[in-house]
Amino acid sequence: MCGIVGVLGNHEAAPLLVEALKRLEYRGYDSAGIATINGKTLDRRRAVGKLVNLSDVLVHDPLPGKAGIGHTRWATHGAPSIENAHPHRAGGVAVVHNGIIENFRELRAFLADEGVGFETDTDTETVALLAQYYLSLGHSPAEAATDTIAQLEGAYALCFLFDGEDDLLIAARKGSPLAIGHGAGEMFVGSDAIALAPMTDQITYLDEGDMAIVTRTSLEIRDAAGNLANRDQRTIRMDSAMVDKAGFKHFMAKEIAEQPTVLQGALSHYIGADGVVLPEPGLAFDQIERMTLVACGTAFYACMVAKYWFEQIARLPIEIDVASEFRYREPPVTKGTVALFVSQSGETADTLAALRYMHEKADKIVSVVNVPESSIARESDLALPILAGTEIGVASTKAFTCQLTTLAMLVLKAAQDRGQMSPQDVQTKLAALRGLPGVMNIALGIEARTQAIAQELSEARDILFLGRGQMYPLAHEGALKLKEISYIHAEAYASGELKHGPIALVDPNVPVIVMAPRDALFDKTVSNMQEVMARGGKVLLISDQKGVNEAGDGVWQSIVMPEVDDFLAPILYAIPAQLLAYHTAIAKGTDVDQPRNLAKSVTVE
Ligand code: F6R
Repeated sequence: MCGIVGVLGNHEAAPLLVEALKRLEYRGYDSAGIATINGKTLDRRRAVGKLVNLSDVLVHDPLPGKAGIGHTRWATHGAPSIENAHPHRAGGVAVVHNGIIENFRELRAFLADEGVGFETDTDTETVALLAQYYLSLGHSPAEAATDTIAQLEGAYALCFLFDGEDDLLIAARKGSPLAIGHGAGEMFVGSDAIALAPMTDQITYLDEGDMAIVTRTSLEIRDAAGNLANRDQRTIRMDSAMVDKAGFKHFMAKEIAEQPTVLQGALSHYIGADGVVLPEPGLAFDQIERMTLVACGTAFYACMVAKYWFEQIARLPIEIDVASEFRYREPPVTKGTVALFVSQSGETADTLAALRYMHEKADKIVSVVNVPESSIARESDLALPILAGTEIGVASTKAFTCQLTTLAMLVLKAAQDRGQMSPQDVQTKLAALRGLPGVMNIALGIEARTQAIAQELSEARDILFLGRGQMYPLAHEGALKLKEISYIHAEAYASGELKHGPIALVDPNVPVIVMAPRDALFDKTVSNMQEVMARGGKVLLISDQKGVNEAGDGVWQSIVMPEVDDFLAPILYAIPAQLLAYHTAIAKGTDVDQPRNLAKSVTVE
């Protein structure tokens, strides 16, 4: 899940490469590097840590040349170090790679037998060495790249640069996305179109198994079988402003604040005069017997909420699973099953693998994605956009609430198709949804309160989150957000499950955050809160005014939320979960947008 970029330009390549890498840093930030051809000579610069470190290196030691490749790394094989940073170089070849070469040990053994030595622990160096090996046999760069790629197993997006070739990049894609950008007498390669946005909006996406031979004036694409292939060139609307912080201190803060606006856009997209409108070919829920929902991380918690909704409101049986487990447990799939995959990036390797596993088995593949050009969207029978706009902060915020909103649309459509809700009741729920951006705006007013509480939370070593029913997944989302950006250990439990073991963890130093709007399950949750307080536990209750009043004394802190239709509470209660995590991270001084060890788009299994 690294980011790669390539430039065949008419100006100095280094600043363009760095600018593009800045836009890809969300994919990993353990190290960064670039290589260029200056005249005939290939050279490179690399630095450990964030891209800014590479920029510093380039100030003192510039890298001239109009053709180059670049990389920002999320370490898989080998620790973050200069030696392991990309581009990797072997003789006259430099290569950048996103993905994992699964058979790199066998390839290393083959190269070792041929007398080739290694400098690093990485799978990618093997690719460079293999290409150099074929060059040394007298193969042309294109032949060397073809022979190398033919031997690779695993997932990759690759870009090769060859010594003495200042008008050639060779790129290849299998399992990791890759876009080719067309300029005026210039060409570009990037992990996504966002990276190339400052240079061009004319994009050709490579298909699985494609290899591209790129010069400043030509693009030749060969498919997995080696045949010449035609891939569409499209205009991608990619507003540069979308990747600005717009005056906020962090992308995460901007993305939290944006939620009422983007939600409004998603609602307008799906709500028509007569109810929910889905893009063609649509979904007839009366023909569907069950659905399997699969995703990772935050997107999985959106699926968990959707399970409560689909089952209670539309009486549709739902199975959910995290993508990394799903295909390995080989679930039996019966006729009438629709498989639905939720992914912000649309490139998550685990989710994509699960989708491919279901290709032949499910009646239909549906995806709920933020990136319409993504692999998951393109490999689905029906791709539903969540319309959250570019999400840069590594911790997902607006994508989660837009995923939930899109899933809520499907739930209402299912309830109507299956005769579980009258058209009037659907209209009532849609009216509540239309009002949600306004309620969300009010909810954002809790920020100062969350900031004050976060100061105290930041002292904790462990924090528990509790929720019941459809708020149980929100407890998970709250715990995930908190741990990923503040590094505080946090766990979520179903409120009723606490007494079956985890209550042993409760003491005055372990804050317990209870997410409980005043709904039908509220009284039960209050009993669970009492059990915590009776053992000296500190409860932070997040509820509406009625809930806070009814909970009575003994609560350590409370956050008062606006009242909302029960159905929509999981969407609204994402706000306190996000703000508490954000302000706790600020209080701890962690890197909110780029927390340690993480990356935004996880394109390795
Ligand atoms: C958490 C987070 C991750 C992602 C997960 C799936 O804040 O962002 O847990 O939700 O990696 O990513 P996508 O949705 O791109 O498939």
